[in-house]
Amino acid sequence: MDLLIKNGTIVTSTGSFPADVAVEDGKIVSIGKDLGTEAKKVVDATGKLVLPGALDAHTHLAMPFGGTISADSYLSGTRAAVCGGVTTIFDYPVQHKGETILGLINSKKAVLEEEACCDYAFHCCITNFNDGEILDEMEQAVADGITSFKCFLVYKKEGMMVDDGMLATLLLRAKELGAMINVHAENPDLIDLRVEQYLKEGKTDAWYHYMSRPEFVEAEADKRVVHWATHLNAPVYIVHMADKEGLEACIKAKEEGHELYVETCPQYLEFTCDVYKREDGRNFVCSPPMKGQESQDALWLALKSGFIDTVATDHCPFQSYEKDWGKDDFTKIPNGCAGVENLYPYMLDAANSGKIPFEKVVEVCATNVAKIFGCENKGEIAVGKDADIVIYDKDKDFTISVDNMHSDYDHTIWEGKKLHGYPVQTYLRGELVYDNGAYVGKPGTGKYVKRIPKK
Ligand code: URP
Ligand code: ZN
Ligand code: ZN
Ligand code: ZN
Repeated sequence: MDLLIKNGTIVTSTGSFPADVAVEDGKIVSIGKDLGTEAKKVVDATGKLVLPGALDAHTHLAMPFGGTISADSYLSGTRAAVCGGVTTIFDYPVQHKGETILGLINSKKAVLEEEACCDYAFHCCITNFNDGEILDEMEQAVADGITSFKCFLVYKKEGMMVDDGMLATLLLRAKELGAMINVHAENPDLIDLRVEQYLKEGKTDAWYHYMSRPEFVEAEADKRVVHWATHLNAPVYIVHMADKEGLEACIKAKEEGHELYVETCPQYLEFTCDVYKREDGRNFVCSPPMKGQESQDALWLALKSGFIDTVATDHCPFQSYEKDWGKDDFTKIPNGCAGVENLYPYMLDAANSGKIPFEKVVEVCATNVAKIFGCENKGEIAVGKDADIVIYDKDKDFTISVDNMHSDYDHTIWEGKKLHGYPVQTYLRGELVYDNGAYVGKPGTGKYVKRIPKK
């Protein structure tokens, strides 16, 4: 045996129990009471929780956006990931005009082969069809393990938006291939209309980022996506859900039996639109924006009652000087916030304080992500799975600060957030990569996760 983690409490999506975990060649080979002491490395996890590594289903590393590039490279973003207990990320490479998606993915793989500190998968953002070539290419992409593609219903001027016709075409093509479409749902025309009006009125601070895309602007698009997906009978995954009305439409469709998945993010569970009234409100600018208390309450309720399938970060940080571009004009603030290192600790803190069960955190941050996106070796502490393991100390207090994070950004919306309980070790396929505050792995050890399409 290479590694034996003894005396901990294993948490799965369905229950918790005391047991040892044995690891060989990067895989979990047995789980049980008292597996002895014969291993190259023995770790005593007495009093600790033993969890599967989280899968962050939504990151934007080194992404060109808003006139710059998001502040975390593939190296720093994946390093931060493992330091927060995330052992697999799903990044969102964006197709630029004329680009092939296979070329895009291969160029990202080449960088990650050198830099990845955790395992990685891709949802590929399709922005144009290149006269139909992309629809053909999708078949090879699926064969290569890219089983999800993303549509932005917004970001027209950035050249990333797809219209309803493209969305419908992609929903059907993905379904045909056993793949799925992920959608960023907000209404672009309503946003443009409101932005124009506010700028004309000289209303330019960060609050008007929220006001130009409030609850009903997201809800319209959520409902449109639900409408298309249910009538076309195609699976769909709505990313970063932040509003109550749209969420309710999704819940109804789920109750009617449609294959529809809902993701939300820690920032929507923690902050409300009130943050945009702060002096540093621009630092919280992301799309969709944080919403009102009613939406936040609805998200927590849906999470507890099983209608939220995943919690992921939408990690897309920008430096302070870049956020400052929009001091006097909210439309110039690059959209996005940090989160990959905070996801698991934040959600586990919610469990530690009794708000939700630990099993629920494992479900939405690991097990469900692996199941929904076809990662057969990930997401659970179970025999045969990859030994992606997090040891969590329920008694360790931790205050998030930019100084104790492992990213390249210079500020974080999570600054000062106090957590009770924190990961103390992360293992990636049996290798220790995070140890009590320090990254101890080697960039380039992360591997590509080739996913399985649905039949
Ligand atoms: O503001 C955000 N969320 N930036 C990243 C791109 C996206 O919309 O997911
Ligand atoms: Zn988005
Ligand atoms: Zn995103
Ligand atoms: Zn405490």
